[in-house]
Amino acid sequence: MSHIKTVGILSTGVIGAGWAARVLARGYDVIASDPGQNAAEILQSKIDNAWPALIKIGWAKTTTPPAIRFTDDLEELARTADFIQESAPENIELKRKLHTELDRYAAPDVIIASSSSGLLPSEIQADCRHPKRVMIGHPFNPVYLLPLCELVAGSKTSPETIDRAEVFYRSLAMHTLRVRKEVEAYLSDRLQEALWREALHIIDEGIATPGDLDAAITYGPGLRWAFMGTFKTFHLAGGNQGMRHFMKQFGPALKLPWSKLQAPELSDELIDKIVTGCETESGGRSIEQWEQLRDNCLIDIMRTLRPYNVASGQTLAHDEANRLTSQDHQRWHKDDDITGPLALHTSVVEPGWIDYNAHMTEAAYLEAFGWASDALFRYIGIDETYRAKGNSFYTVETHINYIKEVSAGEPLRFTTQLLGLDDKRLHFFHAMYHGLSGDLLCTTEQMLLHVDMEAQRACAILPHVSAALNAIMSAHRSLQVPAQVGHQMHIKPKT
Ligand SMILES: NC(=O)c1ccc[n+]([C@@H]2O[C@H](COP(=O)([O-])OP(=O)(O)OC[C@H]3O[C@@H](n4cnc5c(N)ncnc54)[C@H](O)[C@@H]3O)[C@@H](O)[C@H]2O)c1
Repeated sequence: MSHIKTVGILSTGVIGAGWAARVLARGYDVIASDPGQNAAEILQSKIDNAWPALIKIGWAKTTTPPAIRFTDDLEELARTADFIQESAPENIELKRKLHTELDRYAAPDVIIASSSSGLLPSEIQADCRHPKRVMIGHPFNPVYLLPLCELVAGSKTSPETIDRAEVFYRSLAMHTLRVRKEVEAYLSDRLQEALWREALHIIDEGIATPGDLDAAITYGPGLRWAFMGTFKTFHLAGGNQGMRHFMKQFGPALKLPWSKLQAPELSDELIDKIVTGCETESGGRSIEQWEQLRDNCLIDIMRTLRPYNVASGQTLAHDEANRLTSQDHQRWHKDDDITGPLALHTSVVEPGWIDYNAHMTEAAYLEAFGWASDALFRYIGIDETYRAKGNSFYTVETHINYIKEVSAGEPLRFTTQLLGLDDKRLHFFHAMYHGLSGDLLCTTEQMLLHVDMEAQRACAILPHVSAALNAIMSAHRSLQVPAQVGHQMHIKPKT
């Protein structure tokens, strides 16, 4: 969002630090504040821990996080920030007091959002002079990866505040869910809480361990939940007649004592059972190790869902399209200087691209070049709209030359040179360089065929893409052909 440059993060615990990392990776400046001891150092280490995941998901473009500004002065934070996200402990008196103070110093058009998990925004905004800009923006842990953000207005929040906040959260690649009616625990936590209360009863009654209950989710319903909620899942569970048959079959069970919902008394014995159960289930791995595994799994799940265009995969795909197409310089224009190889893409070596030698694996080079090809496609006008009409390029041949190793987190830049073109075929060469030293690391030469995807047949490149390609081709015809092009593998026989 053009007018939001600096985001104020008040309180930097689990959630505040997650916000700070996400906001930084998405290109905003951060001013943060927290009264805790060594809060600035702790925040920095939390951001550092989140950074590899943010590189992996493709948002962080630098090997280390940009610097943040930390202040002990709430007034300074409120006066500096263009958007404020409060993530203080879940306590209504404290939140109300903090919002009143933030509201006193922040310019009236600065949105002040609370990360609260379930408090009513009307109560949080009650003492503010400009309550119309106070709202709930409820995220999920880890905030730096999970897309969901519930937007809840209080009785005095203006609709414009929610609209503007939605634009901001979407600029963070989040999925915004407007809660239609102010209610405690909003939507997601209300559902989570029902499950949680049942789980506490089951443990309390000695029926199962925390490990059993986690298995009851992760091997079954949980796998579906990443892309189908309860309603869609049960709709399918009703066979061909869907939900109508499901209701007929399982409706009577609603009268059975299948759930209790009122939480059991939280006795010391129950707490001990839960804590011991969780420690046993952790199997000796630290919280940090589980966090790393969680982050990797979350990214891989979201990426897996991307080609299916569902749930969080759809959010990733939309964000990617918006981000890449909104970069004007990424779209060919007849006045562009295209006399040299095109510099359209940069990235960072993702942690997951590394093999046991601590270097990038062979397959990862292909993935990295895939993104460079994607940047070329967007530049010449092949985007979601073009593909939706049924046309695309398919790669038919690839040659890779591995030249120099590169390690996790190192910056990469790519150049692209066109070698050949006709009405259906495109022949090009990508070079991958180290972003700092400039060393040539790897090259690839590829032949692509333009296809009609429905007919599964080669077809002519559409005119606007062809115009861009022809302009680039005529500029690149005079460039020297790189030494790796047309390279043949052979071992000279000894003479
Ligand atoms: N943990 C979650 O899974 C989760 C998810 C979504 C939303 N939330 C919500 O986010 C908020 C923060 O939760 P958290 O899990 O990050 O808690 P946390 O305990 O990890 O962090 C709270 C932070 O607030 C700071 N703090 C304490 N007193 C303060 C004061 N007077 N003024 C300003 N800051 C103060 C603490 O130093 C700490 O850094 C809560 O409203 C919570 O309901 C939590």
